[in-house]
Amino acid sequence: MTDTSTETGGRWSLPQGFRDPRDAPVVDDVLELVGGTPLVRVNRLAPDAPGTIYVKLDQFNIGGSSKDRIGVNIVRSAIAAGELAEGQRIVDFGAGNTAIGYALAGLATGHPVTIVANATLSPEKANLLRFLGADIVPGRNDVPTDHPENWEAIAARYEREDPSNWWARQASTAYNPSSHEESTGPEIWEQTAGGVSHWIAAVATGGTVSGTGRYLRSRRPDLQIIATDWTEKVDKSNLRAYFERRDGWQELERDFPENIDLDLIDRIETRSKAEVIDYGWHVARTEGLVLGPTSILSLLVAVELAKEVDPGSVIVSFSADSGRDYVTREYNPDWLRANGFSEIADKYVPAP
Ligand SMILES: Cc1ncc(COP(=O)(O)O)c(C=O)c1O
Repeated sequence: MTDTSTETGGRWSLPQGFRDPRDAPVVDDVLELVGGTPLVRVNRLAPDAPGTIYVKLDQFNIGGSSKDRIGVNIVRSAIAAGELAEGQRIVDFGAGNTAIGYALAGLATGHPVTIVANATLSPEKANLLRFLGADIVPGRNDVPTDHPENWEAIAARYEREDPSNWWARQASTAYNPSSHEESTGPEIWEQTAGGVSHWIAAVATGGTVSGTGRYLRSRRPDLQIIATDWTEKVDKSNLRAYFERRDGWQELERDFPENIDLDLIDRIETRSKAEVIDYGWHVARTEGLVLGPTSILSLLVAVELAKEVDPGSVIVSFSADSGRDYVTREYNPDWLRANGFSEIADKYVPAP
């Protein structure tokens, strides 16, 4: 970890030259470019804070997100265990990133892919999935699982009604958190030379925060593990009530994914979507970091935390994907104005 950016008169100097050519990898197969992603220090968002923040840039995986790790590992492990038979179609529901991982693994192994996605699927990811030959089926996550349009219900039905389909179950398969336990966790441990004290990641299936957290906690028992989520989603899933130990939390119906390891996570932090989108623009304009909204959500929590922690603390905040996947919607002033976020658009791209 070399210090390449120092403050000079209110500005930040540029790195001198390029990286050592000997650090540039050569690989024999495209899927070897999964894992081994960089950590970048955050310099400008909280310059006087006692804690140091690093962002784990998982958009550097070949398919553009952290989910390459699990997409490839789930397919590899299921083939090895005899769960996924030759030529079977891989089916799952989700926000699109895992499907890109499945699609890349499926191209290598002869498995077509169908992803059940809801309306929040970013147009960039939808186009990329079609480009890679995957099918996209519309589903909903705002209706219960016994509703026929529920995205999980659709994936389950595909598998039940046609034996040529195999449901990959990213929300519950152990191959999801184990991907991070075997790769993301050890990478962060090495990259921080064992210095990481706080681990922050957004939750959907919970595989990232739990698998990485499990490895890092095994190396450092006092590691703090913080999950992040949108306010709207958390209220639906009971997670917030669970972590805040509200009355009756023990009896709460666990309608959250099995891959969220509740015994491991110290607490959950939530922020509103508007706050996160606004911060995404601020981070880009300040730090020059172009991150997807869930990555920004975790970074927002990391920056607040960095101001409160003991000196010497090292906070690692996870970036699942790039802001490039959101330039049609969250990072587009026209979309913001048409979707109730005019204040953000006016702040960063004032109307002429
Ligand atoms: C952009 C993005 N951020 C965060 C997550 C959450 O990761 P996990 O499913 O491991 O909890 C996902 C997973 O769907 C994602 O696509």
